[in-house]
Amino acid sequence: MLNRRDFITAAVGVAAAGGLAACAKEDDSTGSTYGTGKGITLGFSQVGSESGWRTANSLSVKQAAKWQGVSLKFSDAQQKQENQISAIRSYIAQKVDVIAFSPVVVTGWDAVLKEAKAAKIPVVLTDRSVETSDPSLYVTLVGSDFTAEGERAAVLLEKVLEKAGHKGAVKIAQLEGTTGAAPAIERAKGFAKVMKAKHPDWKIVASQTGDFTRAGGKQVMAAFLQAHPDIDVLFAHNDDMAIGAIQAIEAAGKKPGKDILIVSIDGVRDGFVAMSKGKINAIAECNPLLGPQLMDVVKKVHAGESVGRWIKTKEADFTQEQAKAALPKRKY
Ligand code: AHR
Repeated sequence: MLNRRDFITAAVGVAAAGGLAACAKEDDSTGSTYGTGKGITLGFSQVGSESGWRTANSLSVKQAAKWQGVSLKFSDAQQKQENQISAIRSYIAQKVDVIAFSPVVVTGWDAVLKEAKAAKIPVVLTDRSVETSDPSLYVTLVGSDFTAEGERAAVLLEKVLEKAGHKGAVKIAQLEGTTGAAPAIERAKGFAKVMKAKHPDWKIVASQTGDFTRAGGKQVMAAFLQAHPDIDVLFAHNDDMAIGAIQAIEAAGKKPGKDILIVSIDGVRDGFVAMSKGKINAIAECNPLLGPQLMDVVKKVHAGESVGRWIKTKEADFTQEQAKAALPKRKY
C-alpha cells in the first residue's frame, strides 16, 4: 500500500507504465481514498511562504489535492490581505466549486465572503480563523487551537526553567507572529493566561512582531538585546523567528538555550535541528500537514454533507531529548 509521501514518486512510475488506474483503490496514511475528489475544482489562497511551516503546509495541500484528484487552483498572497481578496474574487469569477483560504489576518473579510455566499460557493477556512459578523459566511475551520499552543508553550517553559535551575523572577522577550493574525493573537493570549494564573514572577519585558520570518526574528531580537541585555527567556511564536533570534543572540556573544532559554511553536525540521544542538529548549508543535483533512472536508462540503464548525489538528510537545529522538524521521 502506498502512503501519501510515496505517492508522487509512485504515481509517476505507474502512469509511465500506463496503469494509473491500478492505484484507484489505494488509501494514503490518513485513509483518504485515491481519486475520490475528481470533478471538484478548489480555489486555494495561501498566506505566503514566510516559514518552514508554510512550505510544508503548501506541499501538503498540493499533494493531497493531487492524490484525491481535486483540481487545485493555488495562489500565494505573499502575506498581503489585498492579494488574498483578489484571489478569492478571481475564484468566484471562475466559478470554482469550493474556496479554501488561510487568512493572513483575522479581520476585513466580510465583504468578499458575502460575494462568495451570493455566488453560492462554500468557503472553508484552513489553518487560521477570521472574525466575522455573520458565522454563516464560512462552513468550517480546519486547523490548530492556537490559544492552547500558547498555553502549552508556557507549561513547557515551566519545565525548562526547572531543568535549568532558574530561580526567582523571569524576564521574557516575546517574538510575535504577524500583527492581526490569529496565531499571533491567540498564542500570546494562551501564554499570558498561564502567566497570570500561575506565575506572578514572570514578566514580558519586550514584545514585538517578527512577522513569522527568520529575518524578522533576527532583527527584532537584536533590538531586544540592546534594550534588555538581561533577558532570561525568549518565547517565539514560531520556529523560524526563534532561528533568526538564535543568530542575533550568538552575534551578541551569548549562548542560545543556556544564557537565554528559548521556547517556540511549530516543530519544523530546522527547529528540531536547533533543539538537538541545545539552542532551543522546547517546542509546542503546530501541525502543518492539513492537506488530506482539508480535501476530505472539501469533498463533504461539495456533496452537501454537514461538517463540524472546527476540525482541530492533533499536536504534541517536544523537549530536547524528544526532538533528538524524532529528528531522523521528521519529514518537514
Ligand atoms: O498559521 C500558522 C503559523 O503561520 C505558523 O506557526 C507559522 O510558522 C506560520 O507562518
